[in-house]
Amino acid sequence: MHLPDLLEKYIQDHSATEDSVLRELSRETFLKVQMPQMLSGHLQGVFLEFISGMIQPDRILEIGTFTGYSAICMAKGLSSTGLLYTIDVNEELKTMAEKYFEKAGLADKIKLLTGDARKIIPGLNEIFDLVFIDADKLNYSAYYDLVFDKVRPGGYIIADNVLWSGKVVDEKKDKDTQAIDAYNKKVKEDKRVKSFILPLRDGLNIAQKQG
Ligand SMILES: C[S@@+](CC[C@H](N)C(=O)[O-])C[C@H]1O[C@@H](n2cnc3c(N)ncnc32)[C@H](O)[C@@H]1O
Repeated sequence: MHLPDLLEKYIQDHSATEDSVLRELSRETFLKVQMPQMLSGHLQGVFLEFISGMIQPDRILEIGTFTGYSAICMAKGLSSTGLLYTIDVNEELKTMAEKYFEKAGLADKIKLLTGDARKIIPGLNEIFDLVFIDADKLNYSAYYDLVFDKVRPGGYIIADNVLWSGKVVDEKKDKDTQAIDAYNKKVKEDKRVKSFILPLRDGLNIAQKQG
């Protein structure tokens, strides 16, 4: 959702301040990494930290690490014995993400797995309280199916960019938009979950697995 710049600034100014490690990570990402806008950013990061803190998950799975911003935010809400797995296919991002996991004091809480999430997920022998889907849009529905049985009843599956800059309501949709629209419809029609779309930044689809 595109808010007027002044309102966006007002919201940022009246929400929790971005911590110095996340600010540095964001700055380095924008200086050195291609497509830096993929990073969750301040407001969505605060939201993810809050939601994780409310759930106090023991296990989180993130699909799509990028430089580690959202992983750090969510890991802050883990239980004392908690662990966050994050998967990214791009091994060039690993060193930078791990440097910031260390700086955030979360290196022992975050396990970064490098490779194609579709191949890695089936081998994860864990039950997750929270899953964050934020990788290639064409595979959102595949990720949902792959993780579903690994989410505990009452657990959450959150997917990012589900409004795709508003393109989901266009009559003619490109492939990514079609995939995201199909994901939103799949989740809405799935009787095993209760869901809603939060119009924060590019839209978050939040689904809770029913007991
Ligand atoms: C939008 S970015 C993730 C942003 C990150 N969650 C954040 O908020 O900072 C998407 C990431 O998904 C990764 N990706 C794309 N396809 C993937 C796949 N099949 N398996 C694992 N990661 C994938 C990309 O390399 C990219 O780093």
